[in-house]
Amino acid sequence: TDEQHQAHFDATIAADTPIEAKDWMPDAYRQTLIRQIGQHAHSEVIGMLPEANWLTRAPSLRRKAILLAKIQDEAGHGLYLYSAAETLGCSRQDIYEKMLDGKMKYSSIFNYPTLNWADVGVIGWLVDGAAIVNQVALCRTSYAPYARAMVKICKEESFHQRQGYEAAMAMANGSAAQRAMLQDSINRFWWPALMMFGPTDTDSPNSAQSMAWKIKRHSNDELRQKFVDNTVPQLEALGMTAPDPDLKWDEASGHYRFGTINWDEFYQVIKGYGLCNHERVGDKRRAWESGRWVREAAMAHAEKNAAKAA
Ligand code: ACO
Repeated sequence: TDEQHQAHFDATIAADTPIEAKDWMPDAYRQTLIRQIGQHAHSEVIGMLPEANWLTRAPSLRRKAILLAKIQDEAGHGLYLYSAAETLGCSRQDIYEKMLDGKMKYSSIFNYPTLNWADVGVIGWLVDGAAIVNQVALCRTSYAPYARAMVKICKEESFHQRQGYEAAMAMANGSAAQRAMLQDSINRFWWPALMMFGPTDTDSPNSAQSMAWKIKRHSNDELRQKFVDNTVPQLEALGMTAPDPDLKWDEASGHYRFGTINWDEFYQVIKGYGLCNHERVGDKRRAWESGRWVREAAMAHAEKNAAKAA
């Protein structure tokens, strides 16, 4: 019966045993995972766009090769995540079209423009750095196909973070103009990176249930604090500053204290009114439509081969 299934599921979660695709699960658990994994997948593929803006203008062949490889990795992450979402019974096409129609979200961070070359380094360092803090926790999420995807993704993200920091270091050790470009980029990406962790715990409608199901292992605020604690020493090592006059080390708690996030801006961005929402979704829609013939040809080819084999 459903009651027995539910009791078995609850005991499995309580014992920290992962849930597999074919196990019984409550429908709300399934829907929450489709929402979160789908949003995560969309973020990976939308995230390719701001970086792609600098591909043709990378300052050296080495930087260009690194950037190309990183963007390709993000496409791969999107594919693992769409596959993980599909194990829950949704269709990739359906959730992708929901994203294009504004019915599913993707990370707020990718709605900011990349205005200078330093942004490529700072995205690797801060944005991928924030993503890792969130994703290392998700390696222990209760849904096994999602957890397994996260393990591989984290290895690649950690390489992305290091290449970003290395690029930022090169600029920090460069000319006054390069240092100014780096500082400008940090000023623009600092607060949006902190917003990646989502609303504060008191304003996060999904957290309590997701924590109870062990989909989330740490709260939004805990992970945000961890990111700030990791990052401030890196910022100082570069000789750069954060655009936050309230940022300071608090000896008593052993954490860095930081100022208040502009939540109005956050909600505007996730409602679709950020600087680049329109452009990002427009680019993805154009790619989706101009690639339609490729998808149709691939399907026709597969059907022909299947008929031949039969
Ligand atoms: N950008 C866009 N939407 C966000 C963001 C953000 N930074 N933070 C929260 N939201 C959305 C949530 O999706 C939720 O919307 P919905 O209920 O309409 O789906 C709403 O704001 C309320 O937030 P929460 O209740 O806190 O939502 P949730 O429990 O899902 O926590 C979080 C949000 C932390 C982002 C979680 O979904 C998560 O860990 N996701 C996986 C990681 C991820 O998506 N990373 C993408 C960026 S990193 C990268 O891919 C490179």
